[in-house]
Amino acid sequence: MNANCPIGVFDSGTGGLTVAKAISRLLPNEQIVYFADSDHLPFGDKSHAAIKNYSFNITEFLLQKNCKAIVVACNTASAVAFEALKKQYPNVPIIDVIDPVVQAVTVNEIDKIGVIGTKVTIDSKVYENKLKAARPDLEINSLATRSLVPIIEEGLHKKKHLLFALIDNYLGDPPFSEVDGLILGCTHYPLIKEEIEHYYNNKTKVFDAPSIVAEHLKTKLAALDLLSKNASIADTKDHQFFASDLTSTFEETAKLFFGKMVEFNLKKLGE
Ligand code: DGL
Repeated sequence: MNANCPIGVFDSGTGGLTVAKAISRLLPNEQIVYFADSDHLPFGDKSHAAIKNYSFNITEFLLQKNCKAIVVACNTASAVAFEALKKQYPNVPIIDVIDPVVQAVTVNEIDKIGVIGTKVTIDSKVYENKLKAARPDLEINSLATRSLVPIIEEGLHKKKHLLFALIDNYLGDPPFSEVDGLILGCTHYPLIKEEIEHYYNNKTKVFDAPSIVAEHLKTKLAALDLLSKNASIADTKDHQFFASDLTSTFEETAKLFFGKMVEFNLKKLGE
């Protein structure tokens, strides 16, 4: 592994492409190998054992692709498998999407924070525990917003009346109507960040992972002298995209998250 090797990024599906997009913008010299474990989507309703198992298989695959660092671009896998991955691969820089966001929240003047995410992420209490450890005075309210991933995956979030009805259903009453900060604890949610900000009349600070994690990755790679010395990646063809299941609409959905059309290769793991 050296500085010119690619960065491995993974999620259960296309949501992690929001993080991959932020990385490619901030670090245009870096090549990305992205893995979407669409065969097992959603991770957010699976057992911890299953999520750990998927995360190990994907990391193995990305390391075989010579990745110099791994970004767990999924809150659910970050909540459940991050510590186990670090233990298993002590020499590989592995970055989650939770710690950098917690850090960003705790340096802001927030008194009441809300956290929304998948059921597994919220049930794990990982945000609550990490936020409390860093800022014991913070009031933390967490909520599993299970219907948001499916409507985003289906592109139904573009039907504003549907999206706002759901947002209102989840966030319309106290304590969520009164928070001064909200963590989007799922890498699918950046796609509806603007609508959530609008719902709060731009008075609540909304934190999402992509740019915060990309900055964190840059700092970490720089500290390890692992920033690429390659020329800028001009074409998305220089990145590689894999998915463990491909439907006819998969690449269309991926475009929503990555901002550009990309070609996915089918790769079943363990075969
Ligand atoms: N993108 C995943 C996350 O950040 C959620 C999607 C899923 O449930 O698989 O948690």
